[in-house]
Amino acid sequence: MTAVLFVCLGNICRSPAAEAMLRHLALQHQLSLSIQSCGIGGWHIGEAPDERMQQAARARGILMNSRAQQFHVNFFEEFDYILAADKEVLQNLRRQASEPHHHSKLHLMTAFSQHHRGKEVPDPYYFDVVAFEQVLSILEDACEGLLQEITAIKVDGEFATKKT
Ligand code: 4NP
Repeated sequence: MTAVLFVCLGNICRSPAAEAMLRHLALQHQLSLSIQSCGIGGWHIGEAPDERMQQAARARGILMNSRAQQFHVNFFEEFDYILAADKEVLQNLRRQASEPHHHSKLHLMTAFSQHHRGKEVPDPYYFDVVAFEQVLSILEDACEGLLQEITAIKVDGEFATKKT
């Protein structure tokens, strides 16, 4: 099963929202994925997502039920896609990556998105409700694109197996 890890700073706003968004969309597309999120920092370990993020997600029918955890280098082996919210997080992960195949798993969350490709998911922590809604709009586009990417690779894989 394809395994996806979303990473942000605190694991209480952006990455748990991405986790919940992808789980929601994967269910709609009847696609079975292993999905988790974590933070670079350990300040919020064990905490539920930020209430403002949960509320914005609930308004879109998306429930967030993760608990904050911190990134660990073992995750480089356990996940196929490791997706960073912004360039600072991506740089931090690149510094921790020791193998070429770790680096090839690392991307920005928006790497496969149609409308926001290559953009950072802005940290909403010190902003108002609009910022939280913007995060969800970016993540919806990013996760749709990611699902297309994963599905395309699966189809290619099946062709490859059938041909041989
Ligand atoms: P996140 O937002 O990285 O999207 O979860 C943040 C939450 C908390 C902090 C920073 C960013 N913090 O410094 O506590």
